[in-house]
Amino acid sequence: MNTQLVTRGQKHSVMKVRNIHSTEHARALARGRLPRLIFDFIDGAAGREVATAHNTARFDQLRLQPRAMADVGSRSISTHCLGKDYGVPFGIAPMGMCNLAWPKADKSIACAAKDLNMPVCLSSAGSSTLEDMLEWAQGRAWFQLYFNHSQAQSFAAVDRAAKAGYETLVLTVDVPEVTRRVKDQINGFNVPFRMTPRAFADFAFHPRWSLSTLANGIPQPRNFVTANTKFDRNASRAGADWDFLARLRDRWSGNLIVKGITSPEDAARVKTLGINAIYVSNHGGRQLDSAPAAIDILPLIRETVGAEYPLLFDSGIRNGEDVIKAFALGADFVMLGRPVLYALAAGGQAGLMDLLQCFAQDIDLAMAQIGIRDMREANKEILFQSARPKARADILTQTTQLKAAP
Ligand code: FNR
Repeated sequence: MNTQLVTRGQKHSVMKVRNIHSTEHARALARGRLPRLIFDFIDGAAGREVATAHNTARFDQLRLQPRAMADVGSRSISTHCLGKDYGVPFGIAPMGMCNLAWPKADKSIACAAKDLNMPVCLSSAGSSTLEDMLEWAQGRAWFQLYFNHSQAQSFAAVDRAAKAGYETLVLTVDVPEVTRRVKDQINGFNVPFRMTPRAFADFAFHPRWSLSTLANGIPQPRNFVTANTKFDRNASRAGADWDFLARLRDRWSGNLIVKGITSPEDAARVKTLGINAIYVSNHGGRQLDSAPAAIDILPLIRETVGAEYPLLFDSGIRNGEDVIKAFALGADFVMLGRPVLYALAAGGQAGLMDLLQCFAQDIDLAMAQIGIRDMREANKEILFQSARPKARADILTQTTQLKAAP
């Protein structure tokens, strides 16, 4: 398959897809290759995991309207977001402890960001330093901030990111407390890691993962670490309140994005504080099991903040068509979460590149099917459900006029 993509006017071939063919394929391989404890940490969610299932089910229910005979011979999936041009309309969401999926996963993600010209967001709980990540991604890294212990300690991380040269900071606000995740509790998953007999047996059955992870060192949070501070995964983050956000805005002169907004009221207030973008997300259903599907919230927030305000989106994106659906409902850019970790676990850096190419190809091919040439054309009209009543009315009128014509 040699799809030609046009990116900023230049034709180039998309790499051939090799061993990973979809998110579902990557997930099945990851399930076999990872110890249960690690797979469940990546795959798992809050409560009965209804919110996660709902996120993807709502995407599946959305249908795109095929269009025939459109002029789609040349297409571009490149996208503009917060003052930058990117080669693809997606980036990589912040995820803590990616190196548990595959040794040096952070570096693989950063290299993919460089190769595809896309942003990668390093988590506060990341196990690579923010300085390394920025260098590996050649400037395409963003830093995600969790409120950690106190305002002063949180600002120390912000200042470190500024000193390293970061231009974009993402404050996550949907984790006032870390939710109880049942599978993690059953498996005894903890950071820092504690060996239990159950975990020992799990690792023994996955020697490839265990030996390579041991050889590369058990991942530990590497940011927020000073002589007196360390990152505590389970600490309360309720200090990330409106007052903190206003102070953060004063302190950080670069792009500031607020992640984890799912209420139009909150979105309206964030916008008034001079924040550069809102990142609509329900944390992939990992925080509140009864949360609404993030994709259902997106159009409400778009309506609230107006057409021009930048909106990023994640939670439930599993393929290229989902990316287009999110754009249709108001996103300016999307971020990929679990699929990235499944692909890394399934096939390391090559596996990740395979999956990202699947996303890029699927977006491009779906654009051809629905008759658009640029992501900016992805609006509500391309969705079957919203187009249907108007389209039917128009078709009826046209048919009546045709019949009436002499
Ligand atoms: C996350 N997510 C997350 N978000 C964040 O702001 N900081 C973090 O440290 C983490 N850590 C994290 C770890 C793992 C293993 C996962 C799977 C997710 C949430 C992430 O950024 C994103 O919002 C969700 O992953 C999106 O949902 P889907 O698409 O993965 O279902």
